[in-house]
Amino acid sequence: MAEVVIVGSEDEAGELAAGAMLELIRRRPDTVLGLATGSTPLSTYRALARRIGEDGLDVSRVRGFALDEYVGLPAGHPESYRQVITREVVEPLGLTPSLVHVPNGDPETIRTAAEAYDDAITAAGGVDLQILGIGRTGHIGFNEPGSSLASRTRVKTLTEQTRADNARFFDSPDDVPMHCVTQGIGTILQARHLVLLAFGEGKADAVAAAVEGPVSASQPGSAVQLHPHATVIVDEGAAAKL
Ligand code: GLP
Repeated sequence: MAEVVIVGSEDEAGELAAGAMLELIRRRPDTVLGLATGSTPLSTYRALARRIGEDGLDVSRVRGFALDEYVGLPAGHPESYRQVITREVVEPLGLTPSLVHVPNGDPETIRTAAEAYDDAITAAGGVDLQILGIGRTGHIGFNEPGSSLASRTRVKTLTEQTRADNARFFDSPDDVPMHCVTQGIGTILQARHLVLLAFGEGKADAVAAAVEGPVSASQPGSAVQLHPHATVIVDEGAAAKL
């Protein structure tokens, strides 16, 4: 059973999640952070950047692994998750770029790269704290409904719903890639602490299914119920159907 914390605002959620990350980094300067993209974790990254600055914390040894990446975007595309993680996380937090990993979405090498990425997480000793958002389809990372709960990092096809939801980041809906590479649900579950964030009524169904519904591949978020240390931080809107 995941611990559910209902907060008054996204900023409050960001402070809570950032607090947990800071505590880890203070204890272990080479902490491995699991990084999510999307709009949901932005208040967390903002709070973390501010508090690292205030505390003068040395984060030069902090390591990171992103959850996912689009397949086939040109290198340097501003909406590739490599670029998003650089812009929203690595630069504002002052992390060491070579220690922060994002799956390689080059279609030529994708299959071996996906497996190698999974192995690299294990070789790093696993993720200490994984930040997660949740899609309206219930996806975590880009594990769309139907993803095996034991899945590892691999290529997936995005649902039409997810492509439509993410079209806001692109010039045209047709520009949203069809495929992605994502850590599997089994990979995500190996992190030592999961922190799932969700805001707004549009996420209420997905949150209710994740936290209170049956554990099922048709609701990938429900995998958090299998984890011994999962924290779900939601605002009133996202908590509306709990
Ligand atoms: C994206 C990401 C997910 C994210 C989710 C929700 O497409 N691949 O990791 O959690 O969809 O996005 P948002 O936070 O913008 O609602």
